[in-house]
Amino acid sequence: MPDPLHIRPATSADAGPLAALAARTFRDAFADDNAADDMEAYVRDAFSLDRVRAELADDANMFLLAFTDGADQPTGYAKIRAGTADSSVTGPDPVELERLYVNRNAIRQGVGAALMQASLDAARSAGRRTLWLGVWERNARAISFYERWGFEAVGDHVFRLGSDDQTDLIMERPVPGP
Ligand SMILES: CC(C)(COP(=O)(O)OP(=O)(O)OC[C@H]1O[C@@H](n2cnc3c(N)ncnc32)[C@H](O)[C@@H]1OP(=O)(O)O)[C@@H](O)C(=O)NCCC(=O)NCCS
Repeated sequence: MPDPLHIRPATSADAGPLAALAARTFRDAFADDNAADDMEAYVRDAFSLDRVRAELADDANMFLLAFTDGADQPTGYAKIRAGTADSSVTGPDPVELERLYVNRNAIRQGVGAALMQASLDAARSAGRRTLWLGVWERNARAISFYERWGFEAVGDHVFRLGSDDQTDLIMERPVPGP
């Protein structure tokens, strides 16, 4: 049985652990399939302490942190961002699930599912009716996870990793009503 999980929104006090978790999980997920220079350039920019602090202070973002019982460091996180939706998104009142990452040693233990459910709940509480995301077309594990959660591909867009242009699938699903 997986350990009990606790999920809560991140605050400014979480910037350090969140930046470390975000950098580590991104490298773990993609370092094997990408040039080291591209990876380091992206991680340095996207997950610096200053950048994470600024994102935590921005009301457009909500970060959710998952903790296993008794742990003081988060084992996974989701980032929901209220911004302009990709042009291929068709559902009403969209909000983006911009990041969903789980520590390598906790994958396939239900942490992703708990963060997904919490993200849907947060989207509903914010009055949103569509949850959308972009996922690297070569990230088969994440795509199958999202499909099991009812997401459907509706388009694609280019995502720049360092100097490399990559194709992300755009997926969306309705946010369940109350
Ligand atoms: C995609 C990701 C967030 C999913 O998180 P996760 O914690 O592994 O998700 P879960 O454990 O809830 O579910 C994953 C699978 O494990 C299965 N599973 C869940 N608990 C399980 C258990 N106790 N025993 C066996 N299998 C289990 C689920 O059925 C699920 O199957 P599916 O992928 O076919 O739907 C995670 O794999 C991850 O962080 N990947 C690397 C980063 C990444 O690619 N993020 C997405 C970027 S867009």
